[in-house]
This record gives sequence, structure tokens and C-alpha cells, in this order.
Amino acid sequence: MAILITGGAGYIGSHTVVVLIEAGYEVVVFDNFCNSSDKSIKRVEEIVGKFIPLVEGDIRNSIDLEKVFENYSIDAVIHFAGLKAVGESVAEPLKYYDNNIHGTAVLCEVMQKYGCKSIVFSSSATVYGDPHTTPIQEHFPLSATNPYGRTKLFIEEMLRDIFVADNQWKIALLRYFNPVGAHISGVIGEDPNGIPNNLMPFITQTAIGRREFLSVFGDDYDTVDGTGVRDYIHVVDLALGHLKAVEKLHTFESVMAINLGTGRGYSVLEVVNAFEKASNKAVPYKITPRRSGDVAKCYADPTYAKDVLGWEATRDINQMCEDSWRWQSNNPNGY
Ligand code: NAD
Ligand code: UFG
Repeated sequence: MAILITGGAGYIGSHTVVVLIEAGYEVVVFDNFCNSSDKSIKRVEEIVGKFIPLVEGDIRNSIDLEKVFENYSIDAVIHFAGLKAVGESVAEPLKYYDNNIHGTAVLCEVMQKYGCKSIVFSSSATVYGDPHTTPIQEHFPLSATNPYGRTKLFIEEMLRDIFVADNQWKIALLRYFNPVGAHISGVIGEDPNGIPNNLMPFITQTAIGRREFLSVFGDDYDTVDGTGVRDYIHVVDLALGHLKAVEKLHTFESVMAINLGTGRGYSVLEVVNAFEKASNKAVPYKITPRRSGDVAKCYADPTYAKDVLGWEATRDINQMCEDSWRWQSNNPNGY
């Protein structure tokens, strides 16, 4: 029996593969490499010392997926495959609706056909839109501020409908806050294409000299120092959250939406300071205007994850920065 990891060659997927293998699970990775390559899986094989079955295919293609279900006995799916660039989703919404929503519908159809009804879905704190208050709890109102976020919201709704129609399905909607960090080996990590959109890869690329300076998007928010506050979570803690979700899935009697965050927010400048300390590198920055669509503060109330999964994040901001830097400095140009 194996777990199918769609998008398993990507950033969070590759770290989750390590954690699952180390916990004794068999996995099959499925990816079309539109935002990754098979190098990450080769590196994962180095870490775990084992061959990892890898199938190249697209979740929108039922024939690709059926091959996997024909060749392997799949118990459950962890569904990471998706496009995630907010700006690109505004420019090319149909690409996002097709890849993320249509892709998930095809995946669920194939799962249903093969009697596999257990899925852990990569949702996002973006489904809370601009939260009225923090920390954010799972019952807070949901909304979307861009097409990417709308795909996450819609997929959550789609999965709820699937459960209503057939409550044998076991469904976890894991709402990630801001994943950062890398495996402690420095062998796998985040390798964004082009200019990074996210804070941590921009910081590490600035520290290594690939970028001249970091633009800090706004210093006039109602926060500790005026810069945006987020709940950064170490990717290995996030991966361990998926392990717990897979272990608990069979006990779920309804669709479970669960925040995966630390419960602690850090401002942009606090992250810059923590990074400089952990890496002993300077990160030159300039304050620039706010980025459109950004919220002032976004951090989780992680109580529910502790209650239902028995999971909580343990890696602190220092470790997040140290591990991000180890990955970047060992791999200045990524994979
Ligand atoms: P990633 O881009 O590194 O990984 C996604 C993987 O999915 C890539 O390897 C890509 O090639 C693959 N993929 C995309 N479309 C596919 C398709 N149609 N068929 C097969 N494979 C496909 O991204 P990540 O950071 O690892 O994110 C994983 C998931 O978590 C995504 O669904 C993302 O939306 C979600 N998420 C990420 C963040 C974040 O900040 N990284 C936050 C919240 C949620
Ligand atoms: N920031 C900068 N400069 C940069 C990049 C980011 O100042 O070059 C700031 C942002 O303004 C924000 C913070 O750093 O205050 C974090 O920004 P990220 O882009 O790293 O993360 P976001 O919280 O904006 O977005 C992330 C994911 C989205 C997801 C969202 C909610 O990128 O996909 O979390 O889960 F929708």
C-alpha cells in the first residue's frame, strides 16, 4: 500500500516525501515538473537512501493518473500539485482554474474510480482573505483576493461536495501559513523560478549576491514596526503535519479544515534581523510602497491542529533562517 504524492517533486512535496519514507510509508511521486525537476527526487533518494518511484504526468490527464492506480496499490493521496504564483494568477486566471480546479476534479474522479477515497489537500491561509482579527481560527469567514486564492477556496468547496455525496471519503484541508526553511542536510530546499515572489527566497538570494537588495513592501502597517506580519513555518514541521494527517485521516468523520502554522507572527524586518544573525550575512533592504493585495497581519491559531492531529510546530525562526541559508549557500543556483 502506498501514498500517492501529487506535486511531490516540488518544495513542500519533496520534504514530505522524506518524512513519510522515514516514518516507514511507501510513496509514489507524480509530477509534471512544470515548476520542478526530477533532481529534487534524486536528492531525496540521497537523503533517505532508497529508490523512490516517480511518475511523470499531469493531474489533468486521467490516463496518466490511471497508470499510477493500475500499477500501484494507492491507499491515500497527498495532493500538492498546483500552480501557486499570486501575480501570475491575476494575469492568467484561466491557467489557474484549469490546472488547479480542473486538475483536482480529474484526480478525484480517478481516485473514485479506483476506490481510493482518502485525500490530504494543500490549502492555504489565503482562504481567509483579509482577516478581521488575528490569530486566525478555522471557523473564520472565507474569501479570496485573487484567482489563486479562489482556486483554493473552490477546491475546498468541491471536496466538501464530494464528501456530502459519499461520506466514505476522508478529507483533510490543510491550510498552510508561510512555509520557509529546508531539510537540515541542505540537500533539498525551495528553488523558485525567476525572481522570487516570497520573502525568504528573496532574502537568501540577496544574501548570496544574486539580488542587490530586498524591497520591503510597506512600513506603514499597523504592526510592531510597520512591516507586514506573517506566520512563518518550517517546511519540515509542515511535512510532519502531513504525516499526522495521513495517520489520523481514517478517524475523520467530516471534512477537516486545519491550520498549519506556529501561532507566532514575525514582521518582515524581524525576519531580516533573524536571518542576518543566523547566516552572519548582511541583507541590504529598501522600504518601498505596499504590494497590492497584501494584508497587515496573518498568523494562525494552531490549537485545532494540536487537538485533532496531535501536531505542533517545534522549529523556531532561527532554525528556519539557518536551514534556508544552508540550502541556499550549498546550492547558490538552486538544483
Ligand atoms: P511547488 O511549485 O514547489 O510544488 C508544486 C508541484 O506541483 C511542482 O513540482 C509542480 O511541477 C507540480 N505540478 C503543478 N501542476 C501540476 C500538474 N497539473 N500535474 C502534475 N504536477 C503539477 O509548490 P509548493 O510550495 O511545494 O506548494 C505545494 C502546494 O502547497 C501547492 O498546491 C501550493 O498552492 C500550496 N501552498 C503553498 C504555499 C507556499 O507558500 N509555498 C502556501 C500555501 C499553500
Ligand atoms: N515581502 C517583502 N518583500 C518581498 C517579498 C515579500 O516585503 O520581496 C513581504 C510581504 O509584503 C509580506 C511578507 O513579506 O508582508 C510575506 O510575503 P510572502 O510573499 O512571502 O508571503 P504572503 O504571505 O504574501 O503569501 C504567501 C504565499 C501565498 C499564499 C499566502 C497565504 O505566497 O501563495 O502566503 O497563505 F496565498
